[in-house]
Amino acid sequence: MPNDIDFAALEAEALGAARAAKDEADLRAVERDWLDKKGGRVAALLARIPTLEPQMRREFGGAANRVKQALEAALDARRTELAAAQLHADLSDATFDPTLPAASLELGSLHPLTLVRRELEDIFTSMGYHVLEGPEVELEDYNFQKLNIPSDHPARDATDTFYCEPLVAGASLVLRTHTSPVQVRAMERLKPPFRAIAPGRVFRSESTDATHEHTFHQMEGLVVGEDVTVAQLVGTMKAFLRAVFRVDDLEVRLRPGFFPFVEPGFELDARCPFCTAGCRVCKQSRWIELCPCGMVHPNVLRAGGIDPERWRGFAFGLGLSRLVMLRYQIDDLRHLLGGDVQFLETFAPAAR
Ligand code: DAH
Repeated sequence: MPNDIDFAALEAEALGAARAAKDEADLRAVERDWLDKKGGRVAALLARIPTLEPQMRREFGGAANRVKQALEAALDARRTELAAAQLHADLSDATFDPTLPAASLELGSLHPLTLVRRELEDIFTSMGYHVLEGPEVELEDYNFQKLNIPSDHPARDATDTFYCEPLVAGASLVLRTHTSPVQVRAMERLKPPFRAIAPGRVFRSESTDATHEHTFHQMEGLVVGEDVTVAQLVGTMKAFLRAVFRVDDLEVRLRPGFFPFVEPGFELDARCPFCTAGCRVCKQSRWIELCPCGMVHPNVLRAGGIDPERWRGFAFGLGLSRLVMLRYQIDDLRHLLGGDVQFLETFAPAAR
């Protein structure tokens, strides 16, 4: 072992330098002086190995490596220490006040349409209904013909719609004007007897005002069975309205209504559940028009592949958007799809 080198003193010097470092720049300087592969002091030691007597090389190399490792450990420790000190300094910075309340989290909320749709789904599934979905871009055939509305039928005028470029030759596509096409799709898919609802978005070529929009929401209902009656239709509507408006009883009345896919067809009105003197909801008529409905026309059953000699059905078409407006006393339909955050925030959960 060459006696000109005192490894213990070297190590002490190296560790002293590491511990004295005050910042990252100092740490780097120590690394450069000692550990640099070319000019560092440890490298200079290792470079001497080939010049030594062979029996000394191992011991010398081991001692040099121990200095290197001790220094690396000391540098690591100092680096951690300095980082902790920095963090502490940041935290005790006068501009940081840990006692201030945290910035509030922006919580989103469910759209009123979603709230009411889910509520309706709960009510109807509890009565044994399936929840179905149909396409918003619908075959003209399903939107009209299969619902007993032929091409030249005047009922088409009331539901003028957007026609789309057909993807398949001969298949005419429309933005569906109502959720009623899901009736036929349900018949094709489910084996009678069955009950189903189909909430969803519908479209009309409509100039907009407070009660008209080109895009709004409906919920279709369909029940098919062997002995389905108008009395059951009325009973179902009453049960559902009681649940939505949270009243023990609600008087309803049927007026004749014409829809080509039902026969007989009705307009179902309910006693205004909000009525006060000068009521603005029912405009003091004490009745609100709620739900067109009727007994499924035999042609529609046939279009859905169901034998009208054996099966009968009732159907209803709830204006979901209208129900939301009634429920939350919203005076303008355009609010629903307007995307106004201030409006939507009023439906956020109260606790913020
Ligand atoms: N689809 C009709 C509309 O949008 C509403 C409707 C009427 C649906 C009578 C029905 C029904 O299921 O029986 O105007």
